Amino acid sequence: MKPINIKEKFSLFNKNWHPHQVATVDNMQVILAKIKGEFVWHSHEEEDELFQVIKGTLYMQFRASSSGAGGEGGIRTEVVNEGEFIVVPKGVEHNPMTKNDEEVHILLFEKLSTAHTGKVQHEKTQTEYPKI
Ligand code: NI
Repeated sequence: MKPINIKEKFSLFNKNWHPHQVATVDNMQVILAKIKGEFVWHSHEEEDELFQVIKGTLYMQFRASSSGAGGEGGIRTEVVNEGEFIVVPKGVEHNPMTKNDEEVHILLFEKLSTAHTGKVQHEKTQTEYPKI
């Protein structure tokens, strides 16, 4: 029951796309990650995912459903600025990315059961998140 300093926690790791768990809240977890470039298209059938931008600008790509909404190739991108967050609803295909070689710091809030890349297996996929 001590305050957790987010900036301090970010200083404890450097690897991109490697989530680190900083707290649990019942069956939810608070995760920090440093991301750069593009991640992997995936979805989570049973879990929503919250992405809060601590530093930089996150571009969250969504694959539009068969409704045809969205831009080119059915991909819609939401810009999430520092101090903003976005919730990815369960079942929606998404792919976070950053631009201009910027390393972006994000805080995620999601269920403990949420798999990093859903059912997709990728070289970026992490199965265990170090606790820091
Ligand atoms: Ni996800």
